[in-house]
Amino acid sequence: MQRGATVLLTGLPSAGKSTIATLLAERLRSRGRQVEVLDGDEVRASLTAGLGFSRQDRCEHLRRIGWVAQLLARNGVTVLAPVIAPYEQARSAVRRHHESTQTPYMEVHVATPVAVCARRDVKGLYAMQARGDLKGLTGVDDPYEEPLHPELRVDTSEHAPAESADLVLSVLFEEVAAWRR
Ligand SMILES: Nc1ncnc2c1ncn2[C@@H]1O[C@H](COP(=O)(O)OP(=O)(O)O)[C@@H](O)[C@H]1O
Ligand SMILES: [Mg+2]
Repeated sequence: MQRGATVLLTGLPSAGKSTIATLLAERLRSRGRQVEVLDGDEVRASLTAGLGFSRQDRCEHLRRIGWVAQLLARNGVTVLAPVIAPYEQARSAVRRHHESTQTPYMEVHVATPVAVCARRDVKGLYAMQARGDLKGLTGVDDPYEEPLHPELRVDTSEHAPAESADLVLSVLFEEVAAWRR
């Protein structure tokens, strides 16, 4: 069986998490890997429907994604999880869950400066927040606890999307020992 792994892509809205995950999924599939993308935004319609954006709900959202990711990863799937995941406590719980089950795990901090994210504003959230139509936007008026020891930090304002995806791929090869085989 293939060796699976979970890759958490954490960062601010519009940082580039979903874009990198999509490109990475293509790259991995073309190498014959089985891949699932658990995109935080999409998962909110099913697995985590009913959860909101309080600290508690954001942590529960990530906990469920991490739990499903581990199930898939231990069965040979490479799971890409682009999720804002703003709280260290919840991220480290997912890491520990993988470590305690010897499931390969990697954290990527998509560390795009907030000013660049706000300029991209893919979903119009930064504009909504600025107009006063949205409260609790991560990185603006809600916390984002920067990962202290991610396996990789990518600032997408310095790289093209394809370069960012290649960087993640190369670190995945380095980090996940024996994974290439
Ligand atoms: N190097 C890069 N990596 C990823 N996205 C980038 C990069 N440079 C520019 N972008 C653009 O930034 C936007 C990121 O949006 P998205 O991936 O939906 O963010 P997120 O999922 O983090 O909210 C996209 O429009 C993408 O084309
Ligand atoms: Mg996204």
